[in-house]
Amino acid sequence: MSPADCAVVVLISGHGSNLQALIDAATPPVRIAAVIANRAEAYGLERARQAGIATQVIDHREHADRESFDAALAAAIDAQGADLVVLAGFMRILTPTFVRRYQGRLLNIHPSLLPLYKGLHTHQRALDAGDAWHGCSVHFVTEELDGGPVVLQSRVPVQAEDTAESLATRVHAAEHLLYPVAVRLFAEGRLRLGTLGAELDGEALPPTGATLPSLTAAASLS
Ligand code: GRF
Repeated sequence: MSPADCAVVVLISGHGSNLQALIDAATPPVRIAAVIANRAEAYGLERARQAGIATQVIDHREHADRESFDAALAAAIDAQGADLVVLAGFMRILTPTFVRRYQGRLLNIHPSLLPLYKGLHTHQRALDAGDAWHGCSVHFVTEELDGGPVVLQSRVPVQAEDTAESLATRVHAAEHLLYPVAVRLFAEGRLRLGTLGAELDGEALPPTGATLPSLTAAASLS
């Protein structure tokens, strides 16, 4: 990674609305070098093509096990000279070997205020718990699923009439604001994974990462 250029490879499985947000926000030093999907029908591939970004499909069903799929994925990522690997709705569990290879340059976005609600169905779980706030988190990926150090969070108020769908829509809007900020901070060399956790501008971040009040306000309006 040079100060002027950070090659980002985005991994997707589906709709790719976070990918679109990253594409729309990608100005130097952020450069989206390629988008890789594990499903040929992932709509995000079309978004990448429309933006003139290289695409590749690596279908997990054509690999005998996770190790061989992840090895093919790593080869494709490395062929792009990736400085940063961004998971954007990538619905495969990655092997420890893969995660270790990209340690400190592998980010994920998760639709909850981590450490709450790792895994699936986060919006319904927040509603069932009667939470006043829900949201999304960007974190460095480690071997623990959705358990790596949090970088940034955006909080979204839960409204009395919310369903899982309405809440998901507002959290998604917050994700689209949050993820490009995290990618830019990394590309600018301001965000890194230190020995004790995520660091921003050389300072350790708290366990719930940094929150961006302006993002919270914008998300709650949508
Ligand atoms: C997002 O909700 C993200 O938090 C989760 O997967 C979803 C991807 O949505 N990891 P999209 O494909 O970016 O629209």
